Amino acid sequence: MFTKLIARGFSIIRHDGNNCRHSIYPCSKTIPTGVGDNSLLSRPLVFSPNHSKRAYLICSLEHLSLRSDSMRVLIAYDSVSPNKNTEKVAEAIRDVLKTKGMDAQSSYVKNVVPSNGKDYDCLIVGSPTHAWRATGLIRDFLNSLTPQSASGKQGAAFDTRIKGRLAGSAKEGIENKLKQLGFKIILPGLVAYVKGEKSQVVLMEGELEKARQFAEQIAVVLH
Ligand SMILES: Cc1cc2nc3c(=O)[nH]c(=O)nc-3n(C[C@H](O)[C@H](O)[C@H](O)COP(=O)(O)O)c2cc1C
Repeated sequence: MFTKLIARGFSIIRHDGNNCRHSIYPCSKTIPTGVGDNSLLSRPLVFSPNHSKRAYLICSLEHLSLRSDSMRVLIAYDSVSPNKNTEKVAEAIRDVLKTKGMDAQSSYVKNVVPSNGKDYDCLIVGSPTHAWRATGLIRDFLNSLTPQSASGKQGAAFDTRIKGRLAGSAKEGIENKLKQLGFKIILPGLVAYVKGEKSQVVLMEGELEKARQFAEQIAVVLH
């Protein structure tokens, strides 16, 4: 495992403390020798990202395992109308992130399994704007998150809404809550506008493309 990571451009450094769970620490000392040495396995080790690559380890004196070398992004969304506009935006973002090599998943908020942040590096939350704010399901989801699930994590928000000065905004409340929890907001949230058409609510022209560009920006920040 060590040799493979080094070949891929990672440095292995020794970490002084006893805990290095879920963290990447700044590289202070490279240890080019002793790689794969069992004595090193019994100590907390940290992989430092190099050349935009990332490795995550859960390591302790008892347990050491490689989690993933690609950025894990969870997109949690609610979507209510039959046309599922917010879901479409979530999926457009997910698809672009996947093309950038990220481990991106979109999930209807009710299907998100609570993990205390163990299964994502970046959490993106999207909601239709209902009564000037996020839906009850999204607010309940955000309220269920613990500061531990936000620690060291990045976050972003998006919403769908009608174009107009009095429309309100779901994304602002989501961003504020994410910040309050301790997420680092990586870029200003996305607004995707909807309109009524033949008794349905549909995304306005160009809004899916805007969502894809938003995802492109996320990918740049996360790399
Ligand atoms: C109960 C309800 C309240 C709404 N309130 C707002 C609002 O305050 N501002 C707004 O821009 N749109 C509002 N809308 C329109 C929704 O934002 C729009 O239906 C939604 O973006 C569609 O996304 P979805 O297809 O994912 O449900 C409301 C819609 C419903 C059903």
